[in-house]
Amino acid sequence: MTLRAQPIGVFDSGIGGLTVARAIVRLLPLENMIYFGDTAHLPYGDKSEAAIQAYSVKIAEVLLRKKCKVIVIACNSASSAAYELLREYVGKNVRIINVIDPMIDLVSRKFQGSRIGLIGTKRTVQSGVYVRKISELNKNITVQSLATPLLVPMIEEGFFNNQISHEIIAQYLSDPVLQSIEALILGCTHYPIIKAEIEAYYRNQLPVLDSSETVALALRDYLQENDLLNNDENAKHHFLVSDYTESFEATARLFFQKTVSLEKHPLWD
Ligand code: DGL
Repeated sequence: MTLRAQPIGVFDSGIGGLTVARAIVRLLPLENMIYFGDTAHLPYGDKSEAAIQAYSVKIAEVLLRKKCKVIVIACNSASSAAYELLREYVGKNVRIINVIDPMIDLVSRKFQGSRIGLIGTKRTVQSGVYVRKISELNKNITVQSLATPLLVPMIEEGFFNNQISHEIIAQYLSDPVLQSIEALILGCTHYPIIKAEIEAYYRNQLPVLDSSETVALALRDYLQENDLLNNDENAKHHFLVSDYTESFEATARLFFQKTVSLEKHPLWD
């Protein structure tokens, strides 16, 4: 197999990262892709940094064995807990792209002097990674973050675009921490599903920034710059999970917007 034909590896704590995989497939339809969802260990949002690091290393090993040419960490919680470690772990062999840095670049380019809101899991918000990286690059951008842990189970249980989701979203977004923001970062794989509801809360007057699209663009730039773009009309997508249930498969459809068949793949040999 040529280097270009080797798959893009994408991983997440579960199936929410399929929002990122979908954005990648839309932008780069001629690429082979292997998606790994660590359904045996989700949610990552409530886990310790050490646990997420251990899982992420194991997943990277699986993706390296499958000869992935690049690894995308689709999960915000894993990007905040394990990116640096994974970079060291794989060394120069394979580029690791996380879901946070492309968003930091976008905010730095477009929102100088602004007050930016961020919502995500407890792990992502407590890590302070967005605040740290943005303030390292731009002293004049303020980041106000709020953990919104109820949103992941809410979405997975099918509560979106209804009265319950409107109320939960409104409750979170009316938190004093998020007042007078000028843009909002969706710092979690699941939130693209409720992006329209969040925009509606702000009467479509506030930019709502979706990291699934920005990471797909960053990936395309990397492949282009390194002459790694593939051109296969029959590109294949494989979806591996560390634990299989029918309900995961049903939820996968919601995130990928079409039926996917999940294949069980053990994380620990
Ligand atoms: N994928 C996670 C993230 O983006 C959300 C789900 C979880 O907590 O595992 O942070």
